Amino acid sequence: MNGMNELENYAHEHHVPIIMEEGLQFLLQQIAEKHVKTVLEIGTAIGYSAICMAKLDPAIRIDTLEIDPERYAKAQCNIEKQGLSAQISVYLTDALEFFPTKQYDLIFVDAAKSQYRRYMEHFIKNLAPNGFYFFDNLNFHGFVDDPSLTQNRSTRQMCAKIKRFREWIQNDPGLNTCFYPQIGDGIAVVSVKKGQNMIE
Ligand SMILES: C[S@@+](CC[C@H](N)C(=O)[O-])C[C@H]1O[C@@H](n2cnc3c(N)ncnc32)[C@H](O)[C@@H]1O
Repeated sequence: MNGMNELENYAHEHHVPIIMEEGLQFLLQQIAEKHVKTVLEIGTAIGYSAICMAKLDPAIRIDTLEIDPERYAKAQCNIEKQGLSAQISVYLTDALEFFPTKQYDLIFVDAAKSQYRRYMEHFIKNLAPNGFYFFDNLNFHGFVDDPSLTQNRSTRQMCAKIKRFREWIQNDPGLNTCFYPQIGDGIAVVSVKKGQNMIE
């Protein structure tokens, strides 16, 4: 896609984490198959995934949240350059302090990995009746299944939280979860069963 290599190179050079190619293709496939038109993205970074989603279909509208002012500014600039400002609204905010009144077909959760359950609960009222959550990085580079791969204490703690989150979404009777450990960095697609707007 036009200009996307530039964004990928920038992300690589400035150590900005962006979705892996395989995960991105799976995300775009889900959006197309499920006729998604409204997206809430938690974790904009420099706007790479938001731009890719918006380019799929001019009818798609995206609200995307970023806590880091520098990344927020870069995302705004990238989105303007791509001529996508009418489709993508970027908000400089902590996701947990953002209270939208809208409902979204897709809530793409891609911010702090240790907070996934909190994000999910915070935005449950904003999930459209046939909507779904999309979670990335549930393997965290293999460290979740094999913590001995890292000696870093905070990474181990984060991976333990991801593991508990994975177990919860796969076992909660109010959720429908498909976990794809082999795609990208580990992806889950989760929907909430009808009548379950509270999570146990
Ligand atoms: C993995 S990056 C997002 C990548 C982006 N979705 C993409 O694939 O192009 C995660 C981003 O979430 C942001 N973030 C972390 N905690 C956040 C929070 N509580 N609220 C909003 N953004 C947050 C980080 O600053 C970081 O830029």
